[in-house]
Amino acid sequence: MAKIDMFELEPDMVLASALRDRNGRFLLGKGVKLTLKHLKIIKMWGVVEADIEGISEKDVEARKTAHMDPAILEVADRLTRKRFIHADLEHQAIRRLFHICVLRKAKEITDGADPARAEELCDHLAHSDHNLVTENPGTKIDPGELIRNKIKLPSLPIIFNQINEAISDPRSSATHVANIINKDSSLSARLLKIVNSAFYGFPSRIDTISRAVAIIGTKQLSILALGTSAISVFKDIPSDFIDMRSFWKHSVACGIIARIISSYRNNTMTERFFLAGLLHDIGRLIIFKYLPLQAKEALLRANRTNSLLYKTEEDVTEFDHALIGSMLVKEWKLPAILQDAIRYHHPCSERQIPLEPAVVHLSDIITNALGIGTSGEQFVPPLNTKAWDEIGMSTGILAATVREAEPHIAQTVHIFFPDE
Ligand SMILES: [Fe+2]
Ligand SMILES: [Fe+2]
Repeated sequence: MAKIDMFELEPDMVLASALRDRNGRFLLGKGVKLTLKHLKIIKMWGVVEADIEGISEKDVEARKTAHMDPAILEVADRLTRKRFIHADLEHQAIRRLFHICVLRKAKEITDGADPARAEELCDHLAHSDHNLVTENPGTKIDPGELIRNKIKLPSLPIIFNQINEAISDPRSSATHVANIINKDSSLSARLLKIVNSAFYGFPSRIDTISRAVAIIGTKQLSILALGTSAISVFKDIPSDFIDMRSFWKHSVACGIIARIISSYRNNTMTERFFLAGLLHDIGRLIIFKYLPLQAKEALLRANRTNSLLYKTEEDVTEFDHALIGSMLVKEWKLPAILQDAIRYHHPCSERQIPLEPAVVHLSDIITNALGIGTSGEQFVPPLNTKAWDEIGMSTGILAATVREAEPHIAQTVHIFFPDE
């Protein structure tokens, strides 16, 4: 018996255990032979995997790689293993993610990607090596003081505060929120593009903000608007260390993946997860911009020693981007739940982890594993098992999430950055 991903199920396969939907509701009994009709319905029910009789985990892997060149698979395995050196391949979720990434890498190479180029894990850093500072910058920095007094943060658009106030005021109506958003024509246009994208899959076109508010809900649309405004604030910060498009690609991908995972948990506030994923590494932009010596030192150490960047950051400055990012969104008066999702997205404690940071943590791991953009990290961060337990899903959501997220990432990046 082995677990088969939903999109690999075929007619005539026999269920080795009862099939239940994501709420645990009984769907099909043990021993049922699947038909085409069952497969269609299973997809509609959002089932991510099924136990199938007469097939082993090895058979499943063999089926997936049967049509692939073994030499390419070997290269893909080696490259992926490099990215996973800090991850625990003994953990079932990481092992599953690793296999997904090997197949994806093998497909990329088969489709013409240059493996030698792919092997340069942190190309941008390698090239900027000669500019890096080698001595310890030394000075101890108080991150709170930095946020409050030392740096002049780019000013937020007025609309950001107005939306924020409208979200926190229970008396504010849908029309009030729509009116605020309508005042900013470029924000309205971008939001309409987002809600009309395939990601939302609404059958008919939504052409006004009032209609978008009515369909998606005041809170959900406001959260999307906040994310769009926050990006506009940081969009033009030049960085010597990182390709900004790649940074936002990583952030958008993490947001989309977080949103999908939260939807598997039947969470109705999926946009909150999108915003948390979108802003999770925003502290790194503060470090890149305002602490360039420390940023260089941390990047250099991580690169030289094959270490995780968030750990070398902490060694150099005694805080990491997660802390400074959460302080920034606190300063922006964004909800505490979002502050925590950012603050604890690299959890290292054995304490229980709330759902929001747990989902962002897993989404960041998936995004780094897939190598979609980068925020400077070259490795897959280790999975916190408490976070995985808190999410409480089967490993089948990994393949389902990757499959659902990939087509939407490039499109969403393009909506946020149409000119690039
Ligand atoms: Fe991070
Ligand atoms: Fe990240």
